[in-house]
Amino acid sequence: MVIGFVAMLPLAGAQQNQENGADIIKLNTGGAMAEVTFPHHAHQNVVNDCNACHSVFPMTPGIIREKITLQELRKQQVMHGTCLECHKAMKNAGDATGPVVCNQCHIR
Ligand code: HEC
Ligand code: HEC
Ligand code: HEC
Repeated sequence: MVIGFVAMLPLAGAQQNQENGADIIKLNTGGAMAEVTFPHHAHQNVVNDCNACHSVFPMTPGIIREKITLQELRKQQVMHGTCLECHKAMKNAGDATGPVVCNQCHIR
């Protein structure tokens, strides 16, 4: 295991507001799949529960990649366990929700 300093990823182009974080967050997947443009404030408005996501990772920029690097999260764990789990459950319930198709999140 490598012990050392892990640099925070810069939030290129993101506007930041102290409490709620950036409005739009670019999530680099760290692999071959294209980055995901994540509408953060839109989720805060419709989901209404910070812990729907932040029980899995804290409110820190770049923390998903950092935890994958530290092997505290597996690759695709957030994608399957958080993002897709909610989108699929809402879709099955007939509610308007986010993408469940690969290239609607991983947009080139
Ligand atoms: C649907 C999922 C989701 C919900 C709900 C959510 N967040 Fe986030 N939040 C994220 C993601 C994804 C990141 C980016 C993590 C990363 O960069 O690795 C993030 C990052 C943050 C950050 C770090 C700064 C930044 O802009 O990256 C803050 C602060 C934050 N969230 C606050 C909140 C607060 C407060 C709430 C509730 C009002 C909330 N979030 C609800 C997914 C969510
Ligand atoms: C709701 C948005 C969303 C959808 C839909 C989605 N992904 Fe992801 N994917 C992500 C996010 C966010 C990450 C980075 C976090 C993680 O690894 O959990 C990711 C990471 C990945 C990774 C790991 C990084 C890499 O390139 O090796 C792979 C592989 C991947 N996705 C493949 C897929 C495939 C295949 C599909 C369709 C079956 C898919 N994704 C659908 C959001 C999504
Ligand atoms: C608890 C439920 C929930 C979770 C968790 C969640 N989403 Fe969503 N997502 C939604 C809903 C609801 C919408 C539809 C918002 C709207 O259209 O008003 C949405 C919409 C989206 C959209 C489409 C935005 C657009 O402009 O059409 C993307 C992209 C997206 N989500 C990505 C993600 C990613 C990436 C994650 C994981 C980091 C995630 N979502 C986690 C509920 C969720």
